[in-house]
Amino acid sequence: MDQNPNRYTITAALPYTNGPVHIGHLAGVYVPADIYARFQRLQNKDVAFICGSDEHGVPITIKAKKEGITPQQVVDKYHAIIKKSFEDFGISFDNYSRTSAEIHHKTASEFFKKLYEEGKFTEEVTEQLYDEEANQFLADRYITGTCPKCGNEEAYGDQCEKCGTSLNATDLINPKSAISGNVPILKETKHWFLPLNDYEDFLKQWILVDHKKDWKTNVYGQCKSWIDDGLRPRAVTRDLDWGIPVPIEGADGKVLYVWFDAPIGYISSTKEWAEREGKNWKDYWKNEETKMLHFIGKDNIVFHCIIFPAMLKAEGSYILPENVPANEFLNLEGNKISTSKNWAVWLHEYLEDFPNQQDALRYTLTANAPETKDNDFTWADFQARNNNELVAIFGNFINRVMVLTDKYYDGIVPEPATFSEIDQQTLTELKAYPSVIASSLERCRFREAQGELMNVARLGNKYLADEEPWKTIKTDEERTKTVMFVALQIASALAILSEPFLPFTSDKLKNMLNVTLSAVEGSIQWNDVSTKSELLKPGHKINKAELLFSKIEDEQVQTQLDKLQKTKMDNTKEKEETVSVEVAELMPQKETIQYDDFVKLDMRVGTIIEAEKMPKADKLLVLKVDTGIDVRTIVSGIAESFKAEEIIGKKVTVLVNLAPRALRGVESQGMILMTEDADGKLVFVNPSEEGVQNGATIN
Ligand code: 2FM
Ligand code: ZN
Repeated sequence: MDQNPNRYTITAALPYTNGPVHIGHLAGVYVPADIYARFQRLQNKDVAFICGSDEHGVPITIKAKKEGITPQQVVDKYHAIIKKSFEDFGISFDNYSRTSAEIHHKTASEFFKKLYEEGKFTEEVTEQLYDEEANQFLADRYITGTCPKCGNEEAYGDQCEKCGTSLNATDLINPKSAISGNVPILKETKHWFLPLNDYEDFLKQWILVDHKKDWKTNVYGQCKSWIDDGLRPRAVTRDLDWGIPVPIEGADGKVLYVWFDAPIGYISSTKEWAEREGKNWKDYWKNEETKMLHFIGKDNIVFHCIIFPAMLKAEGSYILPENVPANEFLNLEGNKISTSKNWAVWLHEYLEDFPNQQDALRYTLTANAPETKDNDFTWADFQARNNNELVAIFGNFINRVMVLTDKYYDGIVPEPATFSEIDQQTLTELKAYPSVIASSLERCRFREAQGELMNVARLGNKYLADEEPWKTIKTDEERTKTVMFVALQIASALAILSEPFLPFTSDKLKNMLNVTLSAVEGSIQWNDVSTKSELLKPGHKINKAELLFSKIEDEQVQTQLDKLQKTKMDNTKEKEETVSVEVAELMPQKETIQYDDFVKLDMRVGTIIEAEKMPKADKLLVLKVDTGIDVRTIVSGIAESFKAEEIIGKKVTVLVNLAPRALRGVESQGMILMTEDADGKLVFVNPSEEGVQNGATIN
């Protein structure tokens, strides 16, 4: 029988080590996970808060190729940056491991072997996409193409990031190799599959019935849609040379699929921690009374709610997560955050640019957390939240309490006299907050919880403003003592209740108030705010005031906006360069002509005034074009790119003196000039300047 029913295993998605961590990762996963872990520790729960670097998979090898270094060098570099930035940001992991660690290779290999030996996999020779130029099978992110579900043209071989659908590479329409850009061929290869279809009944019961009410609607909705679509066997091995070798005979050159090994990383990281701390890792993974939560972003839902649970179920001795509170995405200044486009606020850079202001970012990311929909981070909002909320509300209250206590009582908590009705009301209101905040946190409503924390500071500000101790000090010493005593109780409640959200602030405040906070006897605890009549006793000496928050200045914001502007310009320049290189590759310059040759071409501005499809011809549209000099018929091979009704009224460039020719029996009296955009789609060479009339010549 379990002796401690209050145990929590809290995991945060293992970040890929192909780049540093940015604010999107923080808002979606690490800040809420950290708040939750810190909160549960304050409830005296036995917490294992687990994470580590996800060091396998195709993105790492692509990055290595791009940088001309080995995959190992890539993961070493980013593992170090990520680990340090998490520590400096106060993310309180109990263990941060990495999937290249020996303990992980062993754990993942054993997990695979057990399932293999128990016949839980099917073995299949199938045709997979293969790049003949690179001599390589194309798995996962080595392949891009059109998502069969939503039409996104940039879907990956394992997943469409737009609609979240989990894909097999062969599902993609128009697949293209990410290595060479070539169209891949199909080639036979053997792989091991987890038959997800065998777990459909279990998943239906576990998610659609048991967790219908308590999972977030976005998570439940995605799961329901996958299950309703019907689950299919999923390959758990890959033809790659980077990853954990498939630990059975006859699998040379094959590794475990990164999404097979990565979630097992939670288990190996727990083992590493348990070994170090003298604990039993099985308590955290195999005990039915332990509560497990996976904190992830929405692109990870299928892996944590369908595939990993099916793996755990197949293994048979593990517990399943109680909740998977996935968040939506955070955008930056109106655009999607992108590692490859450098459109991000990188955590390690933030920490350099805003030293000792971790809580300002933590606060903003929670206040604006993408809990139920995608949200936008802007530097202006960051500045406003810091200056108008942290500084003006929280900081202002604490500063008044500290300064007045020092001034009136030399830093000693005064003995209160009789409590007035308003004092009693204020203290009663204060006592309600621990359970109000706890209830929001238990339901993973972090924004709401932090909003309630700020209401505690608002309560304090209002109380001081109404009771005006700076006035009563001149007339009524006893009243002033009572007011300051009450205000000091609110300040110490803030020191405790802010710890999960604003750990650096909480530490400073505890230091200022000269109190300790932990689950240890003798120090102030979370529930003491509700149950004790005094958190700071009369006679207790507090320390000197420190600055809790500092203002974010306009120049600091401007520097960040300038940085983003530069990124935008660099990206545009890069795009232009790529486009001109591509054009040069596609079309070498033609033979030189003389000016006399050029002037023979009579090109005019015209407007398409009628358009219809040529019967029985897929590519042809029959157009009536007003060329300024006449209205003529032109047959154009653009029907695959444009619908007839879309182009009526469009201004176009027309070669009007091209000798007429008959196409499918219709005489075409000229040619519309076309070009292709960067994606190879036909577009009109379009005289879009205003005021250009039909018939104007082009020269
Ligand atoms: O999406 C990602 O960044 C993945 N590296 C998350 C892995 S989570 C876990 F399963 F390891
Ligand atoms: Zn899609």
